[in-house]
Amino acid sequence: MLSINSKLPSTGTSLFTVMSALASEYNAINLGQGFPDFPMDETLAELAKKAIGDGYNQYAPMAGYLPLRETIAHKIETLYQNKISANDNITITPGGGYAICTAFTTILDHGDEVIVFEPAFDSYIANIVSCGATPVIIQLEYPSYKIDWNKVKAAITPKTKAIIINSPHNPTGVVLSDEEMLQLQEILRNTKIFLISDEVYEHLTYDGLEHNSALKYPELFERSFVCFSFGKVYNCTGWKLGYCVAPKAWMAEFRKIHQYNAFCCFTPTQVAIAEHLKNPETYLQLKHFMQKKRDLFVKLMENSGFDLLPAQGGYFVSGTYEKIASEDGLSLAMHLTKTVGVATIPYSTFYSKGEDQKVLRFCITKKDETLIEGAHRLQQIKMNKL
Ligand SMILES: Cc1ncc(COP(=O)(O)O)c(C=O)c1O
Repeated sequence: MLSINSKLPSTGTSLFTVMSALASEYNAINLGQGFPDFPMDETLAELAKKAIGDGYNQYAPMAGYLPLRETIAHKIETLYQNKISANDNITITPGGGYAICTAFTTILDHGDEVIVFEPAFDSYIANIVSCGATPVIIQLEYPSYKIDWNKVKAAITPKTKAIIINSPHNPTGVVLSDEEMLQLQEILRNTKIFLISDEVYEHLTYDGLEHNSALKYPELFERSFVCFSFGKVYNCTGWKLGYCVAPKAWMAEFRKIHQYNAFCCFTPTQVAIAEHLKNPETYLQLKHFMQKKRDLFVKLMENSGFDLLPAQGGYFVSGTYEKIASEDGLSLAMHLTKTVGVATIPYSTFYSKGEDQKVLRFCITKKDETLIEGAHRLQQIKMNKL
């Protein structure tokens, strides 16, 4: 009998997939998985169709379609005052998640440690473990979900190879401030620690908050792989297109891994986004569009019995349910899907040891009518006193 030594022995099907399947089975409103239920920008969709019609159907260059990399470089210079090279510093990837995974594969050796903050997007730990490295978990402070920087200092050992941050954050919606980024820069100074900065929700910050990209801090950028997703910001998650930005020497190593995995990405969507991004309004207005959705959902949930946590950015709003239900998050999420017809994601999913803070995550990138109906249904939990 053949056998394999599983790289991820304790991993099953992710709860995002399970909840989406359950949502379909029970015809529930899906506020679980992070994807929009409204059509993507029509102009961008048309540009992709045009690119196919115009014959952009063969392999793109390994590092990505050059005009797209040039447009990104220009955007980065304008937004973050960092003059990077389209040739040397940017690689287009099949999604932000792939960029993060490739960055980990590029730098990690067996026995290395990586500092991860929990709650965390679920791929990080799987990526780290697959590379034979060890995640060192630091819990974000409940209920602010801020980083305790003293804990970070204390967690650093001679084996620490990297630290991964995510802002705007999934699932909490917390956005890292300028002071926090400077604090991180200070802690990493004179160390050999790499930074992986997951910025897939780059343009989605609310209430006038700025996105403090690692690209804005020259000293941080020297040690960074900064990862982005077009799917997330342009509401076309199924395009699975993103990019990684890193200093020249690290990017050269990153590309060695990428060229034997994906090699390159789908060409027509790269051509379309290159054209679309020429108009800065296409990304600058995204935060206003999404903030309206956040505000609508927060208002609709005012008397729901959930205490919503402040969401400063990203695709999600979260709420504690301690006042209205006593069961654990997973049981409640299953129950809500089956009985009131709303799928959500419990925070325990974002903790490797399944810690349960009685918090559910709601995805707000949905049509207004979906949010209205979802919130209406969620009111029933209070009335039923589950
Ligand atoms: C925080 C975070 N990072 C990375 C990803 C992956 O992005 P992509 O779909 O572009 O691979 C997601 C997707 O949900 C995410 O929420």
